[in-house]
Amino acid sequence: MHIDILTLFPQVFQGILSAGIFKRAIDQKLVSVSLHNIRDYTQDKHHTVDDYAYGGGAGMVLKPEPIFEAVESIKSGISLNQGGGMLPIILLTPQGRLFSQGVAYELSRCSHLILICGHYEGVDERVREHLVTDEISIGDYVLSGGEPAAMVVIDAVVRLVPGVLGSEASLLDDSHVAGLLEYPQYTRPVEYRGWSVPEVLLSGNHAQIAKWRREQAIQRTLNRRPELLDKANLGLEEKQLVDRLKHS
Ligand code: ADE
Repeated sequence: MHIDILTLFPQVFQGILSAGIFKRAIDQKLVSVSLHNIRDYTQDKHHTVDDYAYGGGAGMVLKPEPIFEAVESIKSGISLNQGGGMLPIILLTPQGRLFSQGVAYELSRCSHLILICGHYEGVDERVREHLVTDEISIGDYVLSGGEPAAMVVIDAVVRLVPGVLGSEASLLDDSHVAGLLEYPQYTRPVEYRGWSVPEVLLSGNHAQIAKWRREQAIQRTLNRRPELLDKANLGLEEKQLVDRLKHS
């Protein structure tokens, strides 16, 4: 997968790209990331990226030209054999569709993504109307720029790219993957400050362990995010369990 990120602050990405799963994925050539400074695509001598809003009002608006030119320059560099797949051009904005594990899966199937980090008070509407193919918000709050949102999106997406995580099986247990929060996890020591690991996990009985984990995931989801249970894929017995837990 190749990811192009358009930003006014390319340096803020260096940290996350040089550690953890990003470093591994990049070293193993499973993922490549190119950072593009929007300012480099300006044509005027002051390298102006923003301007006052027509109609007045506080704050500056990102100009359309450098953003269009950056995206067009990236697209012109894509060779024909790479260009077959879908190429989402995503604006990070609090007005976008809400990011979720489902959206992360959807994007992880693309071989190329272009992310545009907005800034200041907004982005010229023509970018939304005539350039981007998708707008994503990471939650109902306003960040000072799209960069932290882009980091959230690429982190959640890259870990789903086949081969990036050591064990693909662990993905299936992640919170939100099956519509439930993840079950509690324990490691050594078996007793810490008098707090013991649940007996069933030491039993070696894999069927019992799987059942316990599923029930814990359901219980935890019911306690913390009950609205998720409406959409979770539960069997009949599990639905009965939810009813019992609700009334206990
Ligand atoms: N830019 C500013 N706030 C944002 C948000 N909540 N999600 C995505 N991009 C943003």
